[in-house]
Amino acid sequence: MNKPADTSFGNATAAVSLEVRNLRKSWGKTEVLSDVSFRIGAGGFLTLLGPSGCGKSTLLRLISGLDETSGGQILIDGRDVSKVSAADRNLGMVFQNYALFPHLTIEENIGYGLKIRKVDKTRRDKTIARVSDLMGLGPLLQRKPSQLSGGQQQRVALARVLVSERPLVLMDEPLSNLDAKLRTEIRSEIRSLNKTLGITVIYVTHDQSEALSMSDEVVLLNAGKIAQWGTPRDLYESPANTFSASFIGTPPTNLLEPADVALPENLGLDGGTALTDYLIGVRPETMCFPADGAAFTLTGRVLSLEYEGNVTLLHLEAASGAKVIVAHGGHDVPAPGAEVTVGWSHEATHFFSKKDGAAIRRKT
Ligand SMILES: Nc1ncnc2c1ncn2[C@@H]1O[C@H](COP(=O)(O)OP(=O)(O)O)[C@@H](O)[C@H]1O
Ligand SMILES: [Mg+2]
Repeated sequence: MNKPADTSFGNATAAVSLEVRNLRKSWGKTEVLSDVSFRIGAGGFLTLLGPSGCGKSTLLRLISGLDETSGGQILIDGRDVSKVSAADRNLGMVFQNYALFPHLTIEENIGYGLKIRKVDKTRRDKTIARVSDLMGLGPLLQRKPSQLSGGQQQRVALARVLVSERPLVLMDEPLSNLDAKLRTEIRSEIRSLNKTLGITVIYVTHDQSEALSMSDEVVLLNAGKIAQWGTPRDLYESPANTFSASFIGTPPTNLLEPADVALPENLGLDGGTALTDYLIGVRPETMCFPADGAAFTLTGRVLSLEYEGNVTLLHLEAASGAKVIVAHGGHDVPAPGAEVTVGWSHEATHFFSKKDGAAIRRKT
């Protein structure tokens, strides 16, 4: 008999969409979130990204219902839940400081929520077996939390949320306590579980590479406001402003004074776009040395070199004294103190208004 693969856990609800409309939050007189709006479709993976203190956890807690909004709406599958209690929003949460019950086995920890909800033992066992299998926890089920590494414990916390059969899961920096290798492993696990189980995930991180690698969409926050909302590719290739350009990418985008750059005659902008006070943005990895007939060039002195294996970072000082970083892939590395000319293409060039930092759009 050919049965379709069972990809659901028991009576798991189908995934849901999430929308946030003009959301605001103030603590006393301080507004920490202003007019935040975005949406993610059912089964999508959206990351809230931004520096520490920008309002990511506040936003997640509003979505969860743990804190009350100061204005705006939160819609789950089109239904306004702003006034609905946390328990009735049907969502799961994982935090940075996950707490496991130390006296219970891993199996009991994972199944705790199911037991509380009086899910019968046969179904409970089946669900636990399935999720622990997916998470690579099968051989550890009879151990106690203290007999597990930090990464394994974090996996248990994730498994516990996954068996809870919630269609929407919120995660607040769940990997920040783990070492780099485990982080990479678990982030791809989370990502594949999001897709295989069809769970909608809202994920918080301050780590831009984590955000780019995991998400369908990213909401970049700066001081309680959305700096940019788009796909990882949008954020990387079309930064909406200097904040986004500087936050995304390692090393960050160089923001150059036009006076430091030898410009082509045609800047490649729309006919009507007049450039007055602007900055030129260019990513270190899109710059080449030597410049070899590139549209834009910059001449500077090599201050220092940083060998990174796949590239060498050239730290340059431009004529104005501005510091510029070039990620150079070749073996031909200039000596510190040398004067070099580096170049880049029209496509690699971004223009930003000096006044408000907003991108000046190019011809497409
Ligand atoms: N309970 C609270 N009372 C007062 N201010 C708070 C409270 N929670 C967070 N804040 C403030 O709100 C801002 C955003 O905090 P948070 O959402 O935790 O940022 P993030 O998670 O991005 O690091 C910070 O300035 C923080 O000090
Ligand atoms: Mg936080």
